[in-house]
Formats: sequence, C-alpha cells, structure tokens
Amino acid sequence: RRLRQMCIRDRNYEEHRFDEANLDLTNVAITVNRLVASLMPIMMLCLNVSSIAILWFGAIRINNGQMQVGALIAFLQYAMLILFALLMISMMFIMLPRAAASADRINEVLAIEPEINDPDHVKQADKQKGYVEFQHVTFSYPGAEEPAISHISFSAAPGEVTAIIGGTGSGKSTLVSLIPRFYDIDSGHLLVDGVDVREISQEHLRSKIGFMPQKAVLFSGTIAENIRYGKEDATDEEVRHAADVAQATEFISEMQDGFNSVIAQGGTNVSGGQKQRLSIARALVRKPEIYVFDDSFSALDFKTDAKLRAALKQETRESTVLIVSQRVSTIMDADQIIVLNEGRIAGIGTHRDLMRSSEVYREIVSSQLSIEEIAEEIA
Ligand SMILES: Nc1ncnc2c1ncn2[C@@H]1O[C@H](COP(=O)(O)OP(=O)(O)OP(=O)(O)O)[C@@H](O)[C@H]1O
Ligand SMILES: [Mg+2]
Repeated sequence: RRLRQMCIRDRNYEEHRFDEANLDLTNVAITVNRLVASLMPIMMLCLNVSSIAILWFGAIRINNGQMQVGALIAFLQYAMLILFALLMISMMFIMLPRAAASADRINEVLAIEPEINDPDHVKQADKQKGYVEFQHVTFSYPGAEEPAISHISFSAAPGEVTAIIGGTGSGKSTLVSLIPRFYDIDSGHLLVDGVDVREISQEHLRSKIGFMPQKAVLFSGTIAENIRYGKEDATDEEVRHAADVAQATEFISEMQDGFNSVIAQGGTNVSGGQKQRLSIARALVRKPEIYVFDDSFSALDFKTDAKLRAALKQETRESTVLIVSQRVSTIMDADQIIVLNEGRIAGIGTHRDLMRSSEVYREIVSSQLSIEEIAEEIA
C-alpha cells in the first residue's frame, strides 16, 4: 500500500511539473500570437492605404495630362516592392530571437573540444593481429571519487574467447569501453596489437574492433542499410551472411519487405532481441580482428542464444572475442573468464578453475544454475 501511495504521489508530482511547463509555453505562445495578430492588419492597412493613395493622386495627374498611365503602374509596382520588403524586415524581427536562441544551442555543441585526441605521431599497429593486453589499468569517470575499475591485468589473444562476468555496476561495460578508447585510462597500460591505444590513430584502432554496445542502436533506414553501416561497401552476399550468423534471417524474411523493411528512428518497430541481433550482424559484416559483445545476448531466449553462439564460434574462430554477460550459461565454455567485483578482478581462469578457486564466481553460479547442473559440471 505504501508503494501505491508513493506511486500516486510521484504521479501527481510529474503531472504538476508537466502542467507547469505546458502553461508556460501556452502563455508565451498566446502573447506572441496576439502581437503578430495585431501587427499584421496594421501592416496590411498601410500597404493598401498607400496603394490607394498612389492610384488617387496618380489618377488626378493623369487626368491633368501630367503623367502617362504606364508611369503610374510602374510607380505602383516599385512602391509595392519596397513596402513588401519592409514587411519582410518586420517578420525578421520576430524570427531573429528564435534563430539566435537556436544558434546558441548549436554553437554550444560545436564548441565542445573532444577530450580524446590523436597523438601527433601515430604509430601503426599491424605487426600483430587481435591482441588485447591490460596492464594494471585503473580508470575513474570524470568527477567520480572512486575508480570504476582498478588494477586490471589480463590479456586476450586471437582464437580465444575471454568472458567477463560480474554483478551490475561491477565495471564490465567500463572495462570493455576502454579498448576502443572511448575514455583515457588514469594509470597502467592498455595495449592493442602490442601498441598503446593512445599512440594509434582512433580510426585505425576502431577499424580493428567490432563493438556491440550494451544498448543496441539502430538508425532510421532499411535493415540492409543498418547492417551495411558496419562496412559501407559490403556486398548483398556479405550482408545476408552476417544476418544468417546473427540468427536474424528468420525474422527479417517474415517482415514485409525483407531486407528492405524500414526501421524507424531508434529502432522502435523491432523488438529488443531483434535489435540486438541486427547490431551483431552489423559488427559481423566488418570482419574485425577483435569482437566485443557487451551483454549482447541478454534479450535473447536460451535457444536463440545457444544457436547464435554456435554460429558465432565458426565465424570468429580466428578472431579475439570478448563477451560480457550476466548469464553463466553464455560464458561457461570460454577459454578465460574474468570475474569482476566492484571494479576489481576477483578471479580469472576457466570455469573449472574458478569453481574451485573463486568464492564470488561460485556464488554467481549457484544463483543461476540448478544443483543438478552444478553437480554435472563438477563430475
Ligand atoms: N558515464 C558514466 N559516468 C560516470 N560514472 C559511470 C558512467 N558509466 C558507469 N559509471 C559508474 O561506473 C560503475 C561501473 O559501471 P558499468 O556500466 O561499467 O557497470 P556494468 O558492470 O557494465 O553493469 P551492468 O551489468 O548493469 O551493465 C558504476 O558504479 C557506475 O555508476
Ligand atoms: Mg554494462
């Protein structure tokens, strides 16, 4: 009951805020429109009165033989042109403040200096392929008191699957977002293909990585366009194959126009799981050296999840794969599992090792798998 009371109170508060904002907007709009409504007739009156005046006095002059009809018409036209120009200027005074306010906001965005910049002398990282190495990496978000992750050391190599598991807020997404250098680390070293990420150009670094963020983002356009966003010159065959591996072909073919079906802005007309699969297909079509899946299978049912992972295994056999997940079943057979707890590594190893050595991991497993499954595992 308390919860319900709180909900009602909350709703009243939101309604009140919405009402206030609406009322404010209404008042401003009414004032402006009143002004425009009273100005317009006055302007039109001036315009018409002056044209009548010109015709009146012109007619008298023509009558007296002092002026030709043609000259009167020309004069009238010129006078109208000038008056209309004046009318436009007065309209400008209404539009200018609005435009200025908008321009201010656009300029605010444009004036932001990117914090991540390419170094003056970029190094090429093409001696090795698909190596990721964390050496005592510590990172805190700007303004945060505590580091989001601290003293993280591990390495991932091609052909291996590295999984990261841990409770919400343990720093999993933070850890993987450091690899494409979305943020700069505070201390330690982060090497990709043997070179510090701060010494490679961002374009080169990110061309190596297929990153699936925790929240899949789709753009307005067709399904094929959305997948091709990963690689602009992908052939139809490549797009189809990527969708196949991502287990997206089935629902795409059920849609009215197949690959040419239109996705609304933000992907509001596809389900969460469909969105995730399209975003996986987008990364697959690039064939990167390093795949990062940040909880990319969370919205899939267990059957689709298993099918997708089996297909992925084939596809990513020679690449480095990092999988972030909350589900033990998704990451159980990874080559290396990293257990994160409050930003620190609480254990690292295979499922078997961790079951023996890590208390945190055992807790996560026992909260998810049934006793029989665990017994089966240990046996
Ligand atoms: N953009 C940000 N700015 C400031 N703090 C952040 C930001 N993103 C995350 N944090 C903080 O960093 C910590 C780790 O967050 P992170 O998103 O890495 O967790 P997570 O393990 O991915 O959790 P989840 O399983 O819910 O996705 C949290 O305490 C969070 O409050
Ligand atoms: Mg996360």
